[in-house]
Amino acid sequence: MRALPSLRLHGLVLGVACAALVGAVQVAPAGAAEPAPASPLRLAAPDDGLALTPPMGFNNWNSTHCRPEFNEAMIKGVADLFVTKGLKDAGYEYINLDDCWALPQRDAAGKLVPDPVRFPNGIKAVADYVHAKGLKFGIYTSAGTKTCDRVGFPGGLNHEYSDARQFADWGVDYLKYDNCNHQGVDAKKRYTTMRDALKATGRPIVFSICEWGENRPWEWAADVGHLWRTTGDINDSWGSTLSIMKKNLPLHAYAGPGNWNDPDMLEVGNGGMTDTEYRTQFSMWSIMAAPLLIGTDLRKADDATFEILSNREVIAVDQDPLGRQGEVISSEAGRWVVVKELSDGSRAIALFNESDRPQRIETSATDAGLPRARDYRVRDLWAHSDASSAGTIAATVPAHGTVLLRVSPERRWESYPPAVELAPTGDWFARTDRPAEVSAKLTNHGRDKARAVSVRLSGPEGWDIRPTTPTRTGKLSSGITFTTGWKVKAPGGTRPGDYDLVLSAAYDSQAGKTRREHPVRVSVVVPPQPGVSYVSDMPWVSSSNGWGPVERDRSVGGSGARDGKTLTIGGQTYTKGLGVHAPSVVHLYLGGKCSTLRASVGLDDESGTRGTVAYEVWADDRKIAATGVVDNSMPAQPVTADVTGAHSVRLVVTDGGDAVAYDHADWADARLTC
Ligand code: GLA
Repeated sequence: MRALPSLRLHGLVLGVACAALVGAVQVAPAGAAEPAPASPLRLAAPDDGLALTPPMGFNNWNSTHCRPEFNEAMIKGVADLFVTKGLKDAGYEYINLDDCWALPQRDAAGKLVPDPVRFPNGIKAVADYVHAKGLKFGIYTSAGTKTCDRVGFPGGLNHEYSDARQFADWGVDYLKYDNCNHQGVDAKKRYTTMRDALKATGRPIVFSICEWGENRPWEWAADVGHLWRTTGDINDSWGSTLSIMKKNLPLHAYAGPGNWNDPDMLEVGNGGMTDTEYRTQFSMWSIMAAPLLIGTDLRKADDATFEILSNREVIAVDQDPLGRQGEVISSEAGRWVVVKELSDGSRAIALFNESDRPQRIETSATDAGLPRARDYRVRDLWAHSDASSAGTIAATVPAHGTVLLRVSPERRWESYPPAVELAPTGDWFARTDRPAEVSAKLTNHGRDKARAVSVRLSGPEGWDIRPTTPTRTGKLSSGITFTTGWKVKAPGGTRPGDYDLVLSAAYDSQAGKTRREHPVRVSVVVPPQPGVSYVSDMPWVSSSNGWGPVERDRSVGGSGARDGKTLTIGGQTYTKGLGVHAPSVVHLYLGGKCSTLRASVGLDDESGTRGTVAYEVWADDRKIAATGVVDNSMPAQPVTADVTGAHSVRLVVTDGGDAVAYDHADWADARLTC
């Protein structure tokens, strides 16, 4: 059903009234609560009926910047694919040009001139092509004298009315208005003038304010633009995506129909992140009700990219007509729970794992704001499966992954199989020289019994996997956990590294037979040598770092590999050790064979007088040493940790409570006695 427009009175959006109207025509789910009123922070959005849900479409910038492949052929090709690949049907609508479409000079009459090499038939021809496909067309300029690209194409400042007229004559439906070369003119004035100029054309044009959050547009731009960037530019990396997400999440109260926080465009498909990370961007952008502007050249996109971008169940979360932006309800130790209220009374719940290893994330239906009910339907929007839960919502989420759920009270609980959670316990290690023990827990969160339950672990060709406990149970009642163990041995010659095993469970219930699969990452490891070994000479299970890779026997240096300098703390140099940058984790396998870890830690002198960090050593899941906050005025601090019996240790560096800038941290002389 199409959104009913929000009712606006005295500048406030009446979410309650709107949802009540929706409820009158739709069948409200059993026990659905009335949505909380929209935030008092929301001012009235433009009353033009545009962007009542976050804009969806394409923009070339993230994939091409100003390179020559940004041209008419590309734009037309993407418009074609919107139709042939079903993206248009999935809701994508705008095809937007970014910077570099124009010539550097206006013509004698002061008009903008399309670049004849990129757009030999002009802009109107492209707009007509896009419109003929039933799509809409967008363009870009800057609220300054020139645009942002180095060349500096003409900007709209002091040309607002004539440029807006020209855009409208071309058939432009969307304007992204950037912030470069603004000559110190007040932002509110610059963006308001362009709003008025667009209005004066009489053409409905979505107005996208792109001043990077510098002037807190969420506080004043509600009736100026339909969306506003909240951050600087995104790039195709995990660090960028994460930091932008964290800046955009707290602004949830300012979003609503006609006004959206814009954490910048999608990077899905551009190659700098894993598909797990791209699914996280798509999930989190959707739960934040962010604009979904595809930023990859769809002519080169693979199946996984189309599959992510076309997930209609996730898109429905983004496009929900109530227009709420999801809110963080907890974020401890990188385990984020974000909840978005939806127009049918259900909640979208994102379980997002920021950390570099799998983590179990748990919440409950009532913590997510749902009314108390006997049962809930839990729909997994990536697995496209349903389960029924008595209230617990939990999953083991892979590193950097997101489980996105849609949860609603459900009377007919027997229509869905009980939610049976598959949770690997602890870290999973495997060796080639002898079997290693692993275990997993199966917990029934549903009301119904799971019957004829069987659990299986399977691995790649040649792996030896044998259960050490029964793998079947006749019945698993509500709230009960069944633990299964295996001995796992990797085939001789398997290289150390991560491998995927598959944990699966099959069970019967009133809803019929169910099978669930859960990939589990196992690290193939080698035991440490007896004696004293430098950590920089050992293999690591994994490492993660805030800036470039962790360096062996060098400081972290720049963002490249092996670009560090001699490890130096307080003027003293070290030949052995690790150069890291907060936030960082180096994970080492000990196999219970070591006794002591020693190091001299401190900020590297290459940070100058800036930066603060804190060091921690974790043995399995216990913190066994911590320095507290360390800054550059301090000499190297000795760290000694008793690691007796530990299977693995993690060397952790946090930002020391401030931001991560200049946090070049050394683990000098780090060594293990085994
Ligand atoms: C700025 C914007 C980007 C992009 C470029 C184009 O950096 O924030 O999104 O439009 O300009 O030059």
